[in-house]
Amino acid sequence: MDVLPLALKIKGQPCLVVGGGETARRKIELLVAAQGTVAVVARKTSKAVRALCGSHGLGIEEREFVADDVLGQLLVIAATNDPVANAAVAAACSRHRVLVNCVDDGARSTAIFPAIVDRAPVTVAISTGGASPTLARRLRERIEATLPAAVGALATYLGQHRERIRAALPDVRARRRFWEHAIDSDLAALVARRDEHGADQALEAALKAPLASGLVSLVGAGPGDPDLLTLKALQCLQRADVIYHDRLVSPAVLGRCRRDAELIDVGRRASTSAYDAETRQSSIHQRLLADAQRGLRVVRLKGGDPLLFGRGGEEVAALAEHGVPFEIVPGITAALGSAAVAGIPLTHRDWAKSVRFLTARLQDGAINADWPELAKPDQTLVVYMGLAAVEVLCERLRAAGAPPTTPAAVVSRATLEGEAVVSSDLQNLAAKVRAAEIEGPATVIVGRVVALRKPTPMD
Ligand SMILES: C[S@@+](CC[C@H](N)C(=O)[O-])C[C@H]1O[C@@H](n2cnc3c(N)ncnc32)[C@H](O)[C@@H]1O
Repeated sequence: MDVLPLALKIKGQPCLVVGGGETARRKIELLVAAQGTVAVVARKTSKAVRALCGSHGLGIEEREFVADDVLGQLLVIAATNDPVANAAVAAACSRHRVLVNCVDDGARSTAIFPAIVDRAPVTVAISTGGASPTLARRLRERIEATLPAAVGALATYLGQHRERIRAALPDVRARRRFWEHAIDSDLAALVARRDEHGADQALEAALKAPLASGLVSLVGAGPGDPDLLTLKALQCLQRADVIYHDRLVSPAVLGRCRRDAELIDVGRRASTSAYDAETRQSSIHQRLLADAQRGLRVVRLKGGDPLLFGRGGEEVAALAEHGVPFEIVPGITAALGSAAVAGIPLTHRDWAKSVRFLTARLQDGAINADWPELAKPDQTLVVYMGLAAVEVLCERLRAAGAPPTTPAAVVSRATLEGEAVVSSDLQNLAAKVRAAEIEGPATVIVGRVVALRKPTPMD
């Protein structure tokens, strides 16, 4: 982050606007709306600025700006139409450590006006750190369109009842669950209809309702790009008290979790022995059970889809055995992410009537598989955990009768930074992959559909 978004309380605080034209007028209007004590210094002021200042009793001084003007100010706006004059204002602010917004000059500004969605007391501020005010405005339009008009009234209503609920529910997590339950009830609609009596009744009912018991959500994090999370996965991440995640879950996806959720990395390291892996897995079961039994909202976050090659099934069985409520939120599995990135259709009317997902975990240098089945034509294989085994895989398929010219590709880090695709055939893929020095995680895709992808400069 290049900027720290803060909401500044300027009510009654001294703010200076340097400039007297249209830009200055818009800034004065904003400062006045936030109840700042605004003064204006400008060589010349427009009629509109004079009228605005007159109607709010603001002081105007028509003269040159001097550096001492910034002393004692909380915030200064350099809003003249002269970049040199604005730079002088910014320099004075920098010397005296006063926040300054230099209009149209993000580099000199220490305070940047975000685009604002105003549903007071709810305010949404969108900042691009000064990089593109137009983009910020475009995003604001989208948020304006989705945010209910009555959200401000709802915030006011909730604020009025906050102290009472705090006293009734001293435990922070219980209180948070109460609010989530109350906000998701018909409270919002009642407040929007200005039915205060109905809203009070809904709040009382929510307060009397027994607290929801814990829930474990097994959530698929997708292949890495956070925009590939499902909406439901995002909701789970935003509501969780605690999130147990695998090593493969990307930092960008973790960035979408609720800020105060506890994030616990329970990922298996490459060096983990089979014994340690079992111990680790049963300790995950114990922790999921214990947290759910304490009434927490627990998310078990796994790369791709939680039920594909990720021991999700064992976790579900452990939860079911102990009667702990759980839900499964599917995710985009690596096979689909890889195929999309590489532009490979996994099935095709003429070339592949079925698709198989398999793992290629090496055991004593070999892969345990039904090779004659896998070598059959008219199907696509997507091999997980296959990067280290790509040579063995290609050899065994050929030995079982697959033509050496069968198209095959490796897709690494699909949807993540540094994603790469190496495509070739069973005869040459391993050498090409070695030469490309690509990193995992990666899937191997084998089948005639691989030839349908359009080669890129990486090939
Ligand atoms: C333990 S499996 C977990 C699979 C996961 N549950 C899923 O549905 O994608 C890990 C394997 O998934 C594949 N994989 C995961 N993320 C990937 C990505 N972004 N690009 C390519 N392959 C990926 C790799 O084959 C990796 O070795």
